[in-house]
Amino acid sequence: MRLYRTKDYDDMSRKAANVISAQVIMKPDCVLGLATGSSPIGTYKQLIDWYNKGDLDFSRVKSVNLDEYKGLPRDNEQSYYYFMYNNLFKHVNINLDNTNVPNGMEPDSDKECGRYEKVIADLGGVDLQLLGMGHNGHIGFNEPDDVFAKTTHCVDLAESTIEANKRFFASADDVPRQAYSMGIQTIMRARKILLIVSGEDKAETLHKALCGPVTPHVPASILQFHNDVVVVADEAALSKMPK
Ligand code: GLP
Repeated sequence: MRLYRTKDYDDMSRKAANVISAQVIMKPDCVLGLATGSSPIGTYKQLIDWYNKGDLDFSRVKSVNLDEYKGLPRDNEQSYYYFMYNNLFKHVNINLDNTNVPNGMEPDSDKECGRYEKVIADLGGVDLQLLGMGHNGHIGFNEPDDVFAKTTHCVDLAESTIEANKRFFASADDVPRQAYSMGIQTIMRARKILLIVSGEDKAETLHKALCGPVTPHVPASILQFHNDVVVVADEAALSKMPK
């Protein structure tokens, strides 16, 4: 595991975008695993900036997103497809046919989760998976549990996640209770993983994830077992780490 300590959120975003651009430059038809949330917004902005300067070409890039709320259509402003379209896809030359987000409108969970795993397998797996981390250590929507979820599955969201995500909805009651998410095994199969974490409110969980026991109660701790992980975190997020 390689750890990059950055000054602040912007610095983290630039460093993370550097890792992603290196991937796209080295393998122009790579498969990027993408994430939503506030953590990657700055990273996407930086990538868009470099694209506009002519330094990046997404024309052959393929993407798979980690997760999607169950029950939200793509044009719902809170759906993760909508997020991806507005924060990245529409600003760069990625072919929308090459982008994949779980279909939140498929009511049959087994069908959708099976389909999504096949999409990833047919693409030949993920070259670089970008991850944020929830306050409780969740990655994708893999919430703390007694076991690690394996492949793409339907998740019942933790109360704390509903609380954390309600800021984007009219009220907590409007936050969907379920989501489709890649499983821990799906994430761990990515050839390279880039975890970005910012803010003091995540410092304690990040310390547990990187230095504590590997446990499904802190889902991000599984990353200690992956052999190619880059963590880019700002000073605030690293404030609980030994100096
Ligand atoms: C959501 C997403 C995760 C994300 C997490 C953290 O629940 N499903 O993929 O990493 O929130 O979000 P943020 O970056 O806004 O703190």
